Amino acid sequence: MKNLNGFPVNRIVILTGAGVSAESGLATFRDSDGLWEKHDPMQIATPEAFARDPELVYRFYNARRRQLRDVVPNDAHRALAQLQAAFGADVFLITQNVDDLHERGGSKQVCHMHGELNSMLCRACCQAQAVSGDYDGRSRCPECGEQGTLRPDIVWFGEVPYHMETIFQRLRRCDLFVAIGTSGVVYPAAGFVQEALAAGARTVEINKEVSEVAGFFHEQRCGTATREVAALVAELLDN
Ligand code: OAD
Repeated sequence: MKNLNGFPVNRIVILTGAGVSAESGLATFRDSDGLWEKHDPMQIATPEAFARDPELVYRFYNARRRQLRDVVPNDAHRALAQLQAAFGADVFLITQNVDDLHERGGSKQVCHMHGELNSMLCRACCQAQAVSGDYDGRSRCPECGEQGTLRPDIVWFGEVPYHMETIFQRLRRCDLFVAIGTSGVVYPAAGFVQEALAAGARTVEINKEVSEVAGFFHEQRCGTATREVAALVAELLDN
């Protein structure tokens, strides 16, 4: 059995946020140079915004999809993949991120609760499509051929995140919960730590600052994700 500072660890749930990809060069949302400082989320990331001005929303996500080509995974993504390789299915990795850096860092299983930039959803046939390139209101669904029915496969404000049943099942039986690079202001993800605490889990936060929900964590590791995640994973693998 593994342990962390003497606490037994069998099943781990990890939640990542924008901070895990920051050192790869992707902007977070709420830091001073963050995406929501430059764009009003209510004009971009809601079903109402898409209905009002779809081209603006397509352009925003096209630009972010294009940006993925210029970035590479960092040591935090790679360390988490290493942890998954060692623990197998006992590590459940949830990300709020819509980038593909966990996968490119080697993770085989990633639960994308807020959707993915490299996916579009057809509102006619309801199929999610793996995509690359740019989309607009004239694009056709590759599956059913309908025109103008594709939307970014992103969970917008007011929509229900993906995989919630599986996530809560995993939280209810984990003995270590680790939140990495997330501000803890967006629910339901911000409430996962309380669910893990109710299950009796040890809780650890990794953030370069003190988050909104820091008080719910037994342990705070203040520093960059690349440094702190690599150190945490090394500790778990050594024990
Ligand atoms: P935020 O931008 O709200 O928070 C990013 C967090 O990462 C902050 O707490 C930073 O202190 C921390 N951080 C930044 N750089 C870091 C680094 N190098 N190492 C460690 N920590 C670092 O991003 P999220 O919490 O992911 O939803 O935001 C949650 C959701 O809000 C997103 O998924 C997105 C957004 O609206 C959708 O778009 C659906």
